[in-house]
Amino acid sequence: VVTVGKRVRKRREWGRVEGIVRELEKECETDVGRLRQLADALAVEMNAGLASEGGSKLKMLLTDVDRLPDGSEKGIYYALDLGGTNFRALQVHLGGQRSSILSHDVERQPIPRHLMTSTSEELFDFVAAALKSFVENKETCDGDVRDSGRELGFTFSFPVNQTSVSSGILIRWTKGFAIEDMVGKDVSESLQLALRRKGLDMRIVALVNDSVGTLALGYYHDPDTVAAVIFGTGTNACYIERREAIIKCQGLNTSFGIMVVNMEWGSFWSSHLPRTSYDIELDLDSPNPTEQGFEKMISGMYLGEIARKVILRMAQESDSFGVVPSKLSTPFILRTPMMAAMHEDESQSLSEVDRILSEILEVPEVHPRLRKLVMKVCDIITRRAARLAAAGIVGILKKIGREGERPLGSRSGHDTTMRRTVVAVEGGLYVSYTMFREYLHEALEEILGEDIARHVVLQVTEDGSGIGAALVAAAHSSTAVHTR
Ligand code: GLC
Repeated sequence: VVTVGKRVRKRREWGRVEGIVRELEKECETDVGRLRQLADALAVEMNAGLASEGGSKLKMLLTDVDRLPDGSEKGIYYALDLGGTNFRALQVHLGGQRSSILSHDVERQPIPRHLMTSTSEELFDFVAAALKSFVENKETCDGDVRDSGRELGFTFSFPVNQTSVSSGILIRWTKGFAIEDMVGKDVSESLQLALRRKGLDMRIVALVNDSVGTLALGYYHDPDTVAAVIFGTGTNACYIERREAIIKCQGLNTSFGIMVVNMEWGSFWSSHLPRTSYDIELDLDSPNPTEQGFEKMISGMYLGEIARKVILRMAQESDSFGVVPSKLSTPFILRTPMMAAMHEDESQSLSEVDRILSEILEVPEVHPRLRKLVMKVCDIITRRAARLAAAGIVGILKKIGREGERPLGSRSGHDTTMRRTVVAVEGGLYVSYTMFREYLHEALEEILGEDIARHVVLQVTEDGSGIGAALVAAAHSSTAVHTR
């Protein structure tokens, strides 16, 4: 009687955890119809954001980048890339021809967590000091020590109201940064002051978003590049827009017919987005509730955290995990790379799932059936993220008339002469998480159809945001040689 009772209880336990996973799967459903609706909704919001300031949740920020590097750029430029988990200092040597980066050197450092919520002076003093030591080391090694004349492209990956190509005001923080005294201030000026305090002579020639840097490098290598997307700690996209389509700024003065628009698509919102109770809770607990809704379902900062919340509920509502370990209740302890490692565990016994559950979350050894369910949770969350990301890309293609249909206003029907369309991509989530990348490609093909999807190339641009900032600096520098 005791054993039968035990078995019945066990079956009930399994039923409960499996029910949680089934419910999650249902709530995260992203069939192709829904993805198409989302792509349409994004294209509509893009138009609204271009029509008037505040016309949409999508900021559609004008970047003042009205020319992209065409290969004529020459010389040595520096770049500083700040905005995710790490920051990078770079030196880039441009050769004066398309795709002729003679050399580039990068130094990467994690940003100490406490600086993300400290003061602007502390944060910028830290990066300025690191940049200074990078420059000095580099120049000493190369035997090319300079006193002046250095030019910098500054990648600052947060929403900024650009006041010129080299300056802009921080609108608000995202991705867990929260330095109140910085909001509303000029970002370049803050960095320039810190550089002066550290005694480093360097002029900031360009202030760009990471998506814009990525677009610049993508375009430099391949002029069919029309947009760039970031799938890293955060997610965002920018694209090349025609001047006359930017209604909110008709008086805008630019010598060229285009302008790069930083969409800040992380803040996209639509009732078509499949939202779960875990998303709602994550949003409420974040420092920026009701903001960055799209980002919170897609980007690397959040995927592991959503998975942790689901696993925690599985542990709380059944005995399958034994006593709920306190680590499992610690926010953000399960980082997305670890989630990816569990998801991509190919061993028969799912030993990697077990290792991460026990080492990171302090869950004692669990039944193989439970390991499988944990893997399924990772799959559902990442698949949803990748498919939403694909819908976002199609939304941009729709807006610029590159998704096989003729743009609004022209004759209907499919465009049989679909042009090769390149989207530059950067970010660890896309580059290192194979399942995310594969689900994204699969969804693109589902939404666009094979014939059209064939013409859309997602091109990884390694170190794009940093090198790209140096390229934008070069393209806009007064000393750069232009053949245009
Ligand atoms: C966040 C930022 C955005 C950035 C993106 C990727 O969404 O607001 O500016 O491009 O993260 O780093």
